[in-house]
Amino acid sequence: MKDASPQTIYLKDYTPFGYVVEGVELTFALAPEATRVKSRIRFAPNPDATDRTFFLHGEDLTLISAAIDGSPVTPTLTEQGLTCEVPDAPFTWEAEVEIAPAKNTALEGLYMSNGMYCTQCEAEGFRKITYYPDRPDVMATFDVRIESDLPVMLSNGNPGTQDGGVAEWHDPWPKPSYLFALVAGDLEARSDSFTTRSGRHVDLNLWVRPGDLGKTAWGMEALRTSMRWDEEVYGREYDLDVFNIVAVDDFNMGAMENKGLNIFNSSAVLASQDTSTDANFERIEAIIAHEYFHNWTGNRITCRDWFQLCLKEGLTVFRDSQFTADQRSAPVKRIGDVIDLRARQFPEDQGPLSHPVRPESFQEINNFYTATVYEKGAEVIGMLKRLVGDEAYDKAVALYFERHDGQACTIEDWLQVFEDTTGRDLSQFKRWYTQSGTPRLSVEESYEGARYTLTFRQRTPATPGQSEKLPQVLPVAVGLLSPGGEEVLPTQLLEVTEPEQSFTFDNMPDRPIPSLLRGFSAPVVLERESDAAEQAFLLAHDTDPYCRWEAGRGLARGSLIASVVDGADPDGAWLDALRAVVTDPALDPAYRALMMGLPTQSELAQALYEKGITPDPDAIRDAVEATVRATADRWADDLRGLSEEARVAEPYAPDAQQSGKRALGTRVLSLVSRLDGGSAAEAQFEAADNMTLKLAALGNLVRLERADDALAAFEAQWKDDRLVMDKWFGIQIMSAPAPVAVERAEALTGHAAFDWTNPNRFRAVMGALVSNHAGFHRADGAGYDFLAGWLARLDEKNPQTAARMATAFQTWRRYDDDRQAKMRAALESLRDKPKLSRDMGEMVARLLG
Ligand code: ARG
Ligand code: ZN
Repeated sequence: MKDASPQTIYLKDYTPFGYVVEGVELTFALAPEATRVKSRIRFAPNPDATDRTFFLHGEDLTLISAAIDGSPVTPTLTEQGLTCEVPDAPFTWEAEVEIAPAKNTALEGLYMSNGMYCTQCEAEGFRKITYYPDRPDVMATFDVRIESDLPVMLSNGNPGTQDGGVAEWHDPWPKPSYLFALVAGDLEARSDSFTTRSGRHVDLNLWVRPGDLGKTAWGMEALRTSMRWDEEVYGREYDLDVFNIVAVDDFNMGAMENKGLNIFNSSAVLASQDTSTDANFERIEAIIAHEYFHNWTGNRITCRDWFQLCLKEGLTVFRDSQFTADQRSAPVKRIGDVIDLRARQFPEDQGPLSHPVRPESFQEINNFYTATVYEKGAEVIGMLKRLVGDEAYDKAVALYFERHDGQACTIEDWLQVFEDTTGRDLSQFKRWYTQSGTPRLSVEESYEGARYTLTFRQRTPATPGQSEKLPQVLPVAVGLLSPGGEEVLPTQLLEVTEPEQSFTFDNMPDRPIPSLLRGFSAPVVLERESDAAEQAFLLAHDTDPYCRWEAGRGLARGSLIASVVDGADPDGAWLDALRAVVTDPALDPAYRALMMGLPTQSELAQALYEKGITPDPDAIRDAVEATVRATADRWADDLRGLSEEARVAEPYAPDAQQSGKRALGTRVLSLVSRLDGGSAAEAQFEAADNMTLKLAALGNLVRLERADDALAAFEAQWKDDRLVMDKWFGIQIMSAPAPVAVERAEALTGHAAFDWTNPNRFRAVMGALVSNHAGFHRADGAGYDFLAGWLARLDEKNPQTAARMATAFQTWRRYDDDRQAKMRAALESLRDKPKLSRDMGEMVARLLG
């Protein structure tokens, strides 16, 4: 609940804790309303600290007793924790507290989900379990004893005594409290094993509620693949005798890397052909890998403080992207990451929530688990690797593991291993961590007497709290093509470090065509006077898959913006050039499917806004629909052949090859359904033997308002499957015609299965409405009021998920005065609510700016 005055925490104020923890023993006597937690903690004065204040975090705890070296003490209790007089020498702290997991709706600390006990301690949830220095730089070994009559009781590390009613766990690796986990319930496991390359036998278990075992094969396979990959690519082995994964239905985020006991949102681990789409399978594979990779980048080497969150998250996202690129198609993964970055991180960096990859202050750290920290953080690692080269990257990372194993580190430590390995000065590069905002890079070219010159100019627009920006290091991968489409200069890495900088290329007999920012070598906005002829040339000839795709995107953007602004017809030359690529049988179907994608309506709104044009969501939607229709008409003769190519004859597998075909088929179906009124979609809905095809068909039927029967059948079949029902809720709103999207969402919140305290269900409805751009931004403001009303309601139960969903308002200043006023009013109504959470309080204040 609202603090009297929310405190801002600053990076510059960091000081170490006055004590080190030499060991932690915890005993849990589980009961839904009254769990008792006993702690026995050995503290010793920290020689590296000057401040000896003994403060332990603790929230929503009932203290039963406390003792130091066996003698009862009476600590001073506050809202945030306790302080106590302690000896000036090593001592043992003992406490007993009572907590009520069944009443914990925030899903932080120890809570219950479907009768199962589980925990989420990152970032600051452990303080809701017992009194402790709940900060990542305090690392200790944990011994845990769990008492209950539940059949399965798990914690971190290796199992000890497991006797009726009691389970003991010992984690030999010192860890911060945010990596603590406990699970207890009536669970079943898919079990397997893995032998590390140095011969350690590891038992693997994926725990689920009874009934879900049929959805665990994919997760287990992904885990084994990840374990092998981290050995082969990073030389990292697993370090315990068991690795447990648990699927939980009520979870605020995707998953959590607790040492030896990863806890997953069931949506991020459970998969089957009937219930999951290809995209679900790919996401699950990536998240399993991500959490597993954290064992080294996060757990063995952790963060000194929460400002360093990108140290583990940026690096681990980068590692999981490499993994996916290796398992599937590297260019397709790269383009997917660019789409995602532009959809989620750019708007963040271009609006009121913009913050550096390493923030300098926060009130609630949960508000900083963002696309900037994660995805831009991963881009920064990718740039570093490009700049120093693959070999130096490997050496530096090996040095990082060797030098910092067992430590809680900073970005400075990370950059230092690169400086030590390469001798480079990375002080300018470090601005990627400290400076917020998306750099704009403009390019001019000149050609004179066989000399070709590229001149780059960089600037970063002001962001909240940072009006002045310094030039950054921009690795710009460039290739040059001859007018005949030959590559005359293979990819070179140019380092743009100045506000303005030129690069010359001699001996160019013809004026070359530049292929810029290959592989999206830096997360910038490339500003280049759009020249449709050049983009068409690159679309036809570029050897870099990203640049080729981006050329098509540029043409699409140009055509769509012209349609919105002047009501122009879609650009026929673009559609013809695109058809040549999309129908090229030599290209990967997954890549062709990406080529067929259009920028999102939200992205177009931002593009218009940056051109000084106030975006009209209805006009954007109309332009997109007209463009899709025009594409269908123009390609009408190719659609049958494309559908044939997209057909999968083999039994279902969620691999890259089959998924790519289905992705292409899904694009084609959306065009076909513009021509046939939905009969192909209806047939596909009936015939589909997997969720990918089924859901694609259903989306088209919803858009065409002929989905009543299909929706009813779908619901009847899947009413008992929470994850599938999330899809059912979402698609009816996401694919609905914009004018009815809010009413659809409203009606669905009245459905008996709308359990709004379940984060997945809440997001399925609210997230779907937000993704229906013109629907959410309906001119009368109904979408804004609807969302704000639900955020206010959820904030009382689950501040974290509510505050995160509030980011839907981050683009509010783009729109017309009327919409702005309505969004401002919605945000102000939230702000003025009594008892606003710290999460929501900070979020709304930042959004209002
Ligand atoms: N560390 C988790 C991950 O792998 C995210 C957990 C975030 N949880 C939270 N409550 N903020 O990305
Ligand atoms: Zn992570």
